[in-house]
Amino acid sequence: MSDQLIFEPSETAIANTLTTKEQYEALYERSVSDPDGFWREQAARLDWIKPFTKVKNTSFAYPDVSIKWFEDGELNVAANCIDRHLETRGDQIAIIWEPDDPKADSRSITYRELHEEVSRFANVLKSLGAKKGDRVTIYLPMIPEAAYAMLACARIGAVHSVVFAGFSPDALSGRINDCDSNIVVTADEGRRGGKVVPLKKNVDAALKDCAGVEKVLLVRNTGGDVDVSEGRDVWWHEASQQASTDCPPEAMNAEDPLFILYTSGSTGKPKGVLHTTGGYLLWASLTHERVFDYKDGEVYWCTADVGWVTGHSYIVYGPLANGATTVMFEGVPNWPDASRHWQVIERHKIAVYYTAPTAIRALMGAGVDWTQKNDLSSLRLLGTVGEPINPEAWMWFYRNIGKENCEIVDTWWQTETGGHMITPLPGAIAAKPGSATKPFFGVQPVVLSPEGQEQTDTEAQGVLCIKDSWPGQMRTVYGDHARFVSTYFETYKGYYFSGDGCRRDEDGYYWITGRVDDVLNISGHRLGTAEIESALVAHPKVSEAAVVGYPHDVKGQGIYCYVTLMSGETESEELRAELRNWVRKEIGPIASPDMIQWAPGLPKTRSGKIMRRILRKVAENDFGSLGDTSTLADPGVVDDLIEHRQNR
Ligand code: WT7
Repeated sequence: MSDQLIFEPSETAIANTLTTKEQYEALYERSVSDPDGFWREQAARLDWIKPFTKVKNTSFAYPDVSIKWFEDGELNVAANCIDRHLETRGDQIAIIWEPDDPKADSRSITYRELHEEVSRFANVLKSLGAKKGDRVTIYLPMIPEAAYAMLACARIGAVHSVVFAGFSPDALSGRINDCDSNIVVTADEGRRGGKVVPLKKNVDAALKDCAGVEKVLLVRNTGGDVDVSEGRDVWWHEASQQASTDCPPEAMNAEDPLFILYTSGSTGKPKGVLHTTGGYLLWASLTHERVFDYKDGEVYWCTADVGWVTGHSYIVYGPLANGATTVMFEGVPNWPDASRHWQVIERHKIAVYYTAPTAIRALMGAGVDWTQKNDLSSLRLLGTVGEPINPEAWMWFYRNIGKENCEIVDTWWQTETGGHMITPLPGAIAAKPGSATKPFFGVQPVVLSPEGQEQTDTEAQGVLCIKDSWPGQMRTVYGDHARFVSTYFETYKGYYFSGDGCRRDEDGYYWITGRVDDVLNISGHRLGTAEIESALVAHPKVSEAAVVGYPHDVKGQGIYCYVTLMSGETESEELRAELRNWVRKEIGPIASPDMIQWAPGLPKTRSGKIMRRILRKVAENDFGSLGDTSTLADPGVVDDLIEHRQNR
């Protein structure tokens, strides 16, 4: 089996690593036996305005879950990511921006320039009325201004909520209203894969439903035509001219909110995951350094979008806190052709390349020739995140991109965890393709039986929970602490429940097997089946809908929708296309259904509960193991579903 395949760290990796195997073992042991002592020492990597005296004050006890780290300390995230580097690396490049169009010029921003831009941005936000604690929604493409806006919020103590620029006006307005933002930062348009995204138009549409928004700060990016609403919309290039580059960073309590990021759950609308200041930054910074074994002067590239947590922790906060040079890429892997990423690696002499299995599989599908046009010899380390990587894709990555000279880190974590949780440390932990390997410092994974019994044997299978708090953990669901407690701490009392299944092998390595709840993972992005269902039933011709995932070669999972039409409506290809577009409009292109099957009836129990297990099996084309269907109100619907299963 694939878990027999082991890649020991190379001699070069061992010789240069920041963490040897022995150090990892000793530090890990200390981190769980003496968390207070361990984290007190680690927190010294940050600059504190007021030192903390307390380290850990956390409880997973249901229902009084409470998580506080460094609770009496004060610091500022922007000062840690920028100001403290000025003396030693003011002229070093902080951000390399690589545009969508390979023929356009890239831009390099030094730490000194970053300081000026962020301070100016912060002063403009203040002039628009932003104060400490206010929520600012950021809806920007992958341009440096996205990082400026995030850091400017951090500088003045405003809480940012970045909404991925691929989300629809409806998705945007829901998020703006949920956290009651009074300011939105956006751009005229975004560029991605040669296409233009009408961001300002989307904001205008969204704001029809957002009474609380007073100001829109508008970045001129493409120069495209947009409507400007007098009194509400302010151009950044105009406002910034008068703005001072002096903006003293606000002293923030370690437990003051830093940002909200919406993510999908198994039920209801997306939840606002709240991260705070001290613990989050420590986690992002320490994991970025140790997991990527980051060395001064290296160019580091995480290919995520700042609209996701990966972009927050590993494009902006982690690398900048460490004084790294971080690349921000506006484009996509396969435009203008499938060598685009490899060009970027060659152009900027990238040492660390962190990407998603779905991108690897897509590039693998394009053929190995595309990988041979560029010089990839600057690479030292490769990383993946977002979903389990199949060993075949891992091997392809290892051979064709790493040329068998690079370590690979498969990092398991979540929006909720703030940063890496289970991952190899290069030079310390041998890789097994497909396994996220071992826990990071302070992380105590446990495998529970579905009934909640902790599995004590090394070899185990079940649901993945975490036994105790770590500094980067989310603190609450914004505005709904009860939902935080019930989602993560109710099913398995005393533990943080990840929502993932996993297996632990004989060497204590963790293999994530995917979500055990109704959350889909589409190309490494999370979507709740409930969200897609409610988008579908909002269409006037749809009476009922049930959505499940099915295996998809490139995306990992595809979206399979069973749709029952209103009586009198006719099934047609046109209606299929219409529903697909409808969902794209309601949520965004990432939620595009891959399959829509007409279902005159859905398999329900007598109490009316849809049996998704059966729908999943039918979608997977796995009719042999449907299990017990005798509790169905009408077992006949299953035969009908099988008969009409959509061909692929
Ligand atoms: C879910 C979290 C973490 C940033 C990107 C996604 C899956 C993530 C891995 C991995 C197997 C993984 C899990 C997790 N996942 N990384 N290395 N191996 N599965 O963040 O949107 O919060 O999704 O992504 O299922 O629960 P997210």
